Amino acid sequence: MTVDEKFGQLQQLPWTWDTGPGGGETKAVEDAARKGMLGSVFSIFGAKTTNALQKIAVEESRLGIPLVFGLDVIHGMWTNFPIPLAQAASFDPEVTAADAEVSAKEARSNGVHWTFAPMMDVTHEPRWGRIAEGSGEDPYLTSAFAAAKVRGYQGEDPKGLKAKDRIAACAKHFVAYGGAEGGRDYNTVDVSESRLRNLYLPPFKAALDAGVATVMASFNTISGVPAHANPHTLTDVLKKEWGFDGLVVSDFTGVKELIAHGFAEDGADAARLSLNAGVDMEMTSTHFVENGKKLLRAGKIEQQRLDDAVYRVLQLKFQLGLFDHPYVEETDEITEPSADARKAARAAAARSMVLLKNEKSVLPLSAKASSIAVVGPFADSADLLGTWVIPASEKKFPAVKVLDAVKKAAPKAKVTYAKGVDAAGKDTGGIGEAVAAAKAADVTVVVVGEPPAISGEAAARSDISLPGAQEKLIEAVAATGKPFVVVLVNGRPLTVGDWLAQAPAVLEAWHPGIEAGHAIADVLFGTVNPGGKLPVSFPRTVGQIPIHYNHESTGRPYDPDNKYTSKYLDLPDGPQFPFGFGLSYTDFTLGEPKLSRSSVAADALRKGDTLEVSVEVRNTGERAGDEVVQLYVHDRAASLTQPVRRLRGFRRVTLEPGKHTTVRFRLGAEDLGFWTNDSHGHFTVEAGAFDLYVGTSSAATAKTGLTVS
Ligand code: GLC
Repeated sequence: MTVDEKFGQLQQLPWTWDTGPGGGETKAVEDAARKGMLGSVFSIFGAKTTNALQKIAVEESRLGIPLVFGLDVIHGMWTNFPIPLAQAASFDPEVTAADAEVSAKEARSNGVHWTFAPMMDVTHEPRWGRIAEGSGEDPYLTSAFAAAKVRGYQGEDPKGLKAKDRIAACAKHFVAYGGAEGGRDYNTVDVSESRLRNLYLPPFKAALDAGVATVMASFNTISGVPAHANPHTLTDVLKKEWGFDGLVVSDFTGVKELIAHGFAEDGADAARLSLNAGVDMEMTSTHFVENGKKLLRAGKIEQQRLDDAVYRVLQLKFQLGLFDHPYVEETDEITEPSADARKAARAAAARSMVLLKNEKSVLPLSAKASSIAVVGPFADSADLLGTWVIPASEKKFPAVKVLDAVKKAAPKAKVTYAKGVDAAGKDTGGIGEAVAAAKAADVTVVVVGEPPAISGEAAARSDISLPGAQEKLIEAVAATGKPFVVVLVNGRPLTVGDWLAQAPAVLEAWHPGIEAGHAIADVLFGTVNPGGKLPVSFPRTVGQIPIHYNHESTGRPYDPDNKYTSKYLDLPDGPQFPFGFGLSYTDFTLGEPKLSRSSVAADALRKGDTLEVSVEVRNTGERAGDEVVQLYVHDRAASLTQPVRRLRGFRRVTLEPGKHTTVRFRLGAEDLGFWTNDSHGHFTVEAGAFDLYVGTSSAATAKTGLTVS
């Protein structure tokens, strides 16, 4: 390979659909492929389109190296599953594995080899729009979902990437992107080494242990050093300490943005800093390929680093089997969701929903209800897929509407509809009609929330309540005195207003994806008993942020009877709804946690010893249902102050009425120890007293003591 061809492999460009093959910018992509100056193209799909471009690279360039095609298949391609935050609420990693399996089949058959997913950015910031793309505020839950999704895309066997139903995954965004100050996207992140290692890095390590093929750098700085040029995270931790031998791709113009960060002088400096720090492939901007040869000759980039980056790119292509089979069979192309895929998406959505309130047994609704009003800006809306959907899928395969699904679920009922207010909550002209519908109906379903356009990337909100006057619609329906249920369709935790006290029932449905309406109806009518739990805390007000369960105690923990403790004068303590919270249509009781032993030596733990925590869970209600048993650990005193609780075990169990089961968790060093501030990475397990809490939310009270000696 010539030096130019080597740098060519490090270039990834976007496919510009607006011009189509042979036109405008597309011609530039085709020319680069023809010259062997292109390694990858993203935002491309379709067997014909990808084969045509691949043919240029393979048959017209000097070396015939195939291109690798990437696409943001975040929670589905044609079959859109619920948003990742919703999937995390299922507390069942099989849900996200199901998404990944369906997505991989659909994407690969369309010529896509590589998805830029799973996103695994832990965050304590509900103002941040990208909270929708991750698995919430906890590193343990996020790690479980990250690993499951990687395996779902790639399969268990690293050699399996050649298969027609597998795609390479991408652990993103490396790292600490979710720590953006103020929850404002792309903003500064200043974080200690111990917080980096205990909160933000664990999901990436879990993804690596699951065999993730690629990693994407993040836009943020990490304590003053941009993640796109951070040798500590990209090389010291990722490639050396963890031994990652896959490919690191920049995020969009992340290399170029080193200039705007005030970190690089110009494009050449950005290329030098980023490539030397550990980025292997440049997405969108072209500083590597434009400056690489000059930098190499000037000794500003080592030959070994260049060859290592090229190796990582070619390795990915070999793993995907592209040298032997660069083209996709056009007859294999999946062009629409299958019935099975829809069924999986519907089940995933229902399994991800969280019942936040249910008084006077308003839920489940009776399919025999004689009249049901379905009102609200999202009652008769298909805008329920959530952020990060492929535009083609949004147009061709819109979400099932709630109104249509309710009519189908209750064929004998008189189902009426009124919009009430628009999605922005600005036009309140329809509230009267909605009130009239509610008055005339036995029960009303109020479907409110966020349009996906204000969720996801570049969608930070300073006010995270229901947009505009949507709350007024709820209050107007409440004023009728008739039974009603609020269904929330949103991509982040919301602050709820006074309407919460007035609403007998509230169902958190998130953005549920292509089968939205049916999944919501399944839960509303009790076909599915909701069993999801919150993967994020819901603040009472924006002023309370950051508020998360895994917080430190402080020297003056909240005490209602002592002014001089950590609190707000104008708010009760704690979130509106805590991490891990969710109700069911049945009831469960938990026994006392039992330990296999009440003490264990730190040395023994360090050598791999473990102990068991078990607890009995019983369905004491009248209908089958799911409960999520959760185990939290608290290290009472340590050389670094520890969170008051850390999730270290969860299990979703299904029980018939009256039945019970014993849930067992193993605890080892990784559950009881923590990373220190040592930048070389030091994990310590210290002697001392621990509290182990078992319950059905992070507010669990049942506890037992453990001594590490
Ligand atoms: C975006 C996102 C990233 C995505 C990439 C390619 O800016 O930050 O998550 O994968 O660009 O679309």
